[in-house]
Amino acid sequence: MMMRIGVLVSGSGTNLQAIINACKSKKIAAEVVAVISNKKNAFALQRAKRYNIKNMFVDSKKNNFDEKAIKFLEKQKVDLVCLAGFLLKLSKRFIKKYNGKILNIHPSLLPKFGGKGIYGINVHKAVLEAKEKISGCTVHLVDEKYDHGKIILQKKVKVLKSDTPETLQKKIPKQEHKLYPEAIKLLLPVMRCL
Ligand code: GRF
Repeated sequence: MMMRIGVLVSGSGTNLQAIINACKSKKIAAEVVAVISNKKNAFALQRAKRYNIKNMFVDSKKNNFDEKAIKFLEKQKVDLVCLAGFLLKLSKRFIKKYNGKILNIHPSLLPKFGGKGIYGINVHKAVLEAKEKISGCTVHLVDEKYDHGKIILQKKVKVLKSDTPETLQKKIPKQEHKLYPEAIKLLLPVMRCL
């Protein structure tokens, strides 16, 4: 049975693309059936359209994002929700509804360098300021705290003396794009039992 994935996005959607590719090439027995963005101009929405994936923009300033998103995900019969560059905090109701079935990817080795406001380039700045020798990325289950739920998989990336926040921001996503499909693959048998 194919698992049905819904992806929540706010930006360019390179992780969404990696998940779509893994499904299309049958690396994972799943398909992306819904993409929801809280940003109208997110390039991720263009990616969804290109593959004829049902997609929706919800203006979270004018709507209850979670309510609309749940309805859409229910309609598409989504089994697993993947946050991929999604910058809104989900409500308790949403997390309860998809309990244990929401994944997120973060560009650091959590629990280090996560939490409110620590996203994008700020993560890599903090890593360099702390003089870390290794950084990386983490796929984790989502709970009510930012970047906090159970860690599923991590990939390490060496921090070189020559690295800047910008070079880390280029290198780490390359690993994210491998890690996210791997983590989904790992979880699919478990998800089936939930
Ligand atoms: C990634 O670095 C991810 O770890 C973080 O946001 C970024 C999203 O990039 N949560 P993209 O939209 O998938 O290209």
